[in-house]
Amino acid sequence: MSIQWFPGHMNSARKQAEEQMEFIDLVVEVLDARLPEASCNPLVDRMRQFRQRPVLKVLNKIDLADPAATAAWKAYYDALPGVTAYPMTTKKPADVARLPALALALAPHRGVPTKPLRIMIMGIPNVGKSTLMNALLKKRVAKVGDEPAVTKVQQKLYLDKHTVLVDTPGLMWPKIEMPSDGLMLAASHAIGTNALIEEEVAFFLGDVLLERYPQLLSARYGFKTEGLDGIGVVEQVAARRGFRMRGGEFDVEKAAHVLLHDYRSGAIGRISLETPESRAARLEAHRVE
Ligand code: G4P
Repeated sequence: MSIQWFPGHMNSARKQAEEQMEFIDLVVEVLDARLPEASCNPLVDRMRQFRQRPVLKVLNKIDLADPAATAAWKAYYDALPGVTAYPMTTKKPADVARLPALALALAPHRGVPTKPLRIMIMGIPNVGKSTLMNALLKKRVAKVGDEPAVTKVQQKLYLDKHTVLVDTPGLMWPKIEMPSDGLMLAASHAIGTNALIEEEVAFFLGDVLLERYPQLLSARYGFKTEGLDGIGVVEQVAARRGFRMRGGEFDVEKAAHVLLHDYRSGAIGRISLETPESRAARLEAHRVE
């Protein structure tokens, strides 16, 4: 299965971002720490490299991510030219408060009233851009919602005398190259799903959890993971929770929904869907295919 999703307004978002890139000093790219590469828009790097703008890659939602994976991602990104990674959560005011200084360090020639630091906040829908802006500005300025692809108008806002924020509407790539990226995004609720796809996504999540966090699965649902596959995980959730249809068979749809909800809310534990190593392996497998 392959999830592809490209609402029309994203074309205009892309154009707007391209034009804006000339007039900013730094990109703050918000990623989901649980799936940083799957939640990144390759266009952002292409656009900023063209204009030679540095980037602060915010690995947001670390409260939900596996700390070891987050540390590995930070090391990975920090080794790239022009890139600094900042793992944080918008839920912690102290994390938010540290961001402006980190941003200024990447463009130290700016940051005075005559030459304010101009930051463009970018990222795909649902990674937490509006929440971050609201927290930085200490007021509600942008729509925050979990429904993907809410169109937003561009805003330019003074953080203080020395810093201007420019945000772009939700920007996504035209084509998701690897099906697993679509599944990771759907699992993390960046892309909406219907019930049919939800089962597919839950099976995928089950596979990832089996591979990387079998103990968390057992602890949450009380089943043994040996010999299971992704479908088996969802069936076991159904069995443990007593989700059965009239005829007695497992209510897989309900169990899929519960598994996804538990992952998204952090109820299973702090989980990352990819690491730099697993990403490299997936890319290699995709290249060979
Ligand atoms: P966007 O502008 O990039 O589209 O994202 P937005 O700020 O709307 O955030 C999407 C969802 O992610 C929101 O959840 C928001 O609260 C949540 N979020 C943002 N930052 C963090 C974080 O650091 N940790 C966690 N756990 N969640 C974060 P929501 O489902 O709309 O509802 P609610 O959480 O506000 O109730």
